[in-house]
Amino acid sequence: MSKADNQPWWRDAVIYQVYPRSFADANGDGVGDLAGITERLPYLRGLGVDALWFSPWYPSPMADAGYDVADYRDIDPMFGTIAEAEALIGQAHATGMRVVIDIVPNHCSDAHPWFQDALAAGPGSAQRQRFWFRPGRGRDGELPPTELRSIFGGPAWTRVTEPDGTPGEWYLHLFAAQQPDFNWANAEVRTEFLDVLRFWLDRGVDGIRIDSAAVLMKELDLAGETAYTDVDGVHEIYREWRSLTDVYMGERVLIGELWLPDHQRFADYLRPDELHGAFNFEFLCCPWDATRLRAAIDESMAAHAPVSAPATWVLSNHDVTRPVTRFGRTDSGFSFPDRLRRRGLPLDLELGARRARAGALLCLALPGAAYLYQGEELGLWEVEDIPTELLQDPMFHRSAGADPGRDGCRVPMPWSDVEPPFGFSPRTATSPPWLPQPLAWKDLTVEAQTGDPHSMLELYRAALRIRAAEPALGDGELRWLSAPEGVLAFARDPGFACVVNLSPAAVPLPPHESVLLTSKPLDGAALPPDTAAWLRR
Ligand code: GLC
Repeated sequence: MSKADNQPWWRDAVIYQVYPRSFADANGDGVGDLAGITERLPYLRGLGVDALWFSPWYPSPMADAGYDVADYRDIDPMFGTIAEAEALIGQAHATGMRVVIDIVPNHCSDAHPWFQDALAAGPGSAQRQRFWFRPGRGRDGELPPTELRSIFGGPAWTRVTEPDGTPGEWYLHLFAAQQPDFNWANAEVRTEFLDVLRFWLDRGVDGIRIDSAAVLMKELDLAGETAYTDVDGVHEIYREWRSLTDVYMGERVLIGELWLPDHQRFADYLRPDELHGAFNFEFLCCPWDATRLRAAIDESMAAHAPVSAPATWVLSNHDVTRPVTRFGRTDSGFSFPDRLRRRGLPLDLELGARRARAGALLCLALPGAAYLYQGEELGLWEVEDIPTELLQDPMFHRSAGADPGRDGCRVPMPWSDVEPPFGFSPRTATSPPWLPQPLAWKDLTVEAQTGDPHSMLELYRAALRIRAAEPALGDGELRWLSAPEGVLAFARDPGFACVVNLSPAAVPLPPHESVLLTSKPLDGAALPPDTAAWLRR
């Protein structure tokens, strides 16, 4: 239950995203694993988060870092075993944290037995009906069925070789070619995923993060270039899923990854018999600008209000540029098509870190649930100088470098010591971390930051401690306070206010009883630029 009233836990939880490959490597192979996560549970509990969300840990050829799942009911040997996953869920619960897992329903891996069966069974078979196989255009079917482009670049169709060795049909993949899209109009697909959900709910997971949640159901315009996603049929799927979680009396949560620009469409997914929550990417994509942030907050609150779902606030995840880097540029918004251009702009990491600190206090003071991505609490920056030959992200490879890819926010965590692997792997490790860590991260390790009152880590620890104790924080409402231009100031009842100064000059604080926390020391009684304060009113 949430602390405020008898509401379910997820309405005001702080949920920490663990990216298993990069969190902690116990066996020394250079890749994170479940044993590493288990060892670090006390760290996570000490940080003060309520729940952990694990990015995919399933068997996978790792064509898209595990978002290409070959078996939804097992753990990749690189990470551990199903017994270890069960033990990890149990231990997280025992230390007081819930567990959310990532389910990838839009597509599987091309190594998934269903896709292999579909290839073997040939055109017209029931096995192919589970995917989107279509004949090609042109004289010999040599052209893809449509001109649709993959979200990762390149065509969204790949041609297969039929069992008799001839070039054959094409299959749809909105992402990489190794990620064939399921056909959600197929009853077997629906039954299979209900069973996968049951499998994990029976193992005690408290929630599901639904990958690419808006694109499952599609209508294909074979005459044109478009695949219509976010079509109404998707709601029926989530109503079925919701019936499954409702058995657990509101204690199990379904949260969707919805990249939808339209607030009405967004809210449709949050109707009382559908998803419990969805990621708020509008807030995440906002530049460091008071007007834009305020608009994103207002619009998001307004979209959630009629469906009485809590808003969720996110500053980063494993797909986007780390906030310290994003906010350190003059153009500080985020969008995928603009990544390469933004990378070319001058970067001030000190400014970025200052803003990321203020952003953290803003994010954690807003009404609803908050998500942190591992390393955000350490102030890690985007690693933008990974040698090209080490880059793994299909976004980089499929776009031929037009998109710099997402490896830069996935570099393994620095825990201790003064040189790589910074405690990510044991000193006896046989391989270096799967992506190289910057030497300068020696100052950002958990060890280096612990006990330093000015560190990002201690700021997060303090903020999470206050958030857990403050009745005003978490679920609820906010009330904007009048403030100078470029300043966001809001009150939360009882007796709390958050002020964020995004203007270039120091500003006076609104009337208050005491200062609970600031992201940077005050300038006398004034709030410096790029600084946030939590106040007792
Ligand atoms: C989601 C994931 C991303 C993945 C994609 C395809 O957007 O967050 O990492 O590449 O879906 O599964």
